[in-house]
Amino acid sequence: MQRRVSQVIKSVQGMEGAGVPIRRVFPTAALEDVDPFLLLDHLGPIEFAPGQATGFPDHPHRGFETVTYVLEGAMEHRDSQGNHGIIGPGDVQWMTAGSGLVHSEMPGAELAKNGGRLHGFQLWVNLPRKDKMVAPRYQDVAAARLPVAQTEAKDVQVKVIAGESLGRHAAVETRTPILFLHATLQPGASVEQPVPANYSAFAYVFDGEGRVGPEHTRVPEGHLAVFAKSGDAVLLSNSAGVPLNVLLIGGAPLGEPVARYGPFVMNTKAELYQAFEDYQNGRMGVIAAR
Ligand code: CO
Repeated sequence: MQRRVSQVIKSVQGMEGAGVPIRRVFPTAALEDVDPFLLLDHLGPIEFAPGQATGFPDHPHRGFETVTYVLEGAMEHRDSQGNHGIIGPGDVQWMTAGSGLVHSEMPGAELAKNGGRLHGFQLWVNLPRKDKMVAPRYQDVAAARLPVAQTEAKDVQVKVIAGESLGRHAAVETRTPILFLHATLQPGASVEQPVPANYSAFAYVFDGEGRVGPEHTRVPEGHLAVFAKSGDAVLLSNSAGVPLNVLLIGGAPLGEPVARYGPFVMNTKAELYQAFEDYQNGRMGVIAAR
């Protein structure tokens, strides 16, 4: 049975980090979270002038995962454990912050020097209580290794970041069941994607205009459709004259208390205070001088 759409919500424009224009898909006044997802930011697209590109300087995280998906441009990351890398066009970085680290996410050297476009996403995935203090872990999936599925008619292409679509499985391992797809539908195309009945699920249209669910609910660019809980599939379709790009994200809810403030997401206030104390006392480390 196809899931109905329970809400269509417009993302909210803002600035994050050191001045990166974003659209916050959630949390907003209209939607606090979509358990187990805590936040979705749509970064740009922005055209930076030479020397003007900026990002997210040193900051900590504890208790959840950040998933960065770059469409255009490049983000360079460094952390307090000495990790360093570049996330380029089409690349995914799945970072399990777990017990905590300090990292920075800044424009790649060429983007910083010469300017250019930055476009991408960051999704925050909550960790269950038992996993909040696991050791930090990175899973990097270069664009070339990201599984891409297609319908037989080749009018729908799906990049499989987590979970499974059209017979292709993601390269990333998740700690709880997660589905994270980037679907591109040509004009007139549609696709029914299985989404397990116990998952929360939403679709975010970032290019074009979608029609989703059995009632073909209109979802304009920059809008999010939240799916109702009952049903085991969602219908995505494109009745507009231009290609549609949409993120379809789902996951098994944790159903645990959430105590969140800024870059820390725990289960209780006491754990939140502990996270601040650990950070302030340097127990999440510092990024080595560069
Ligand atoms: Co971060």
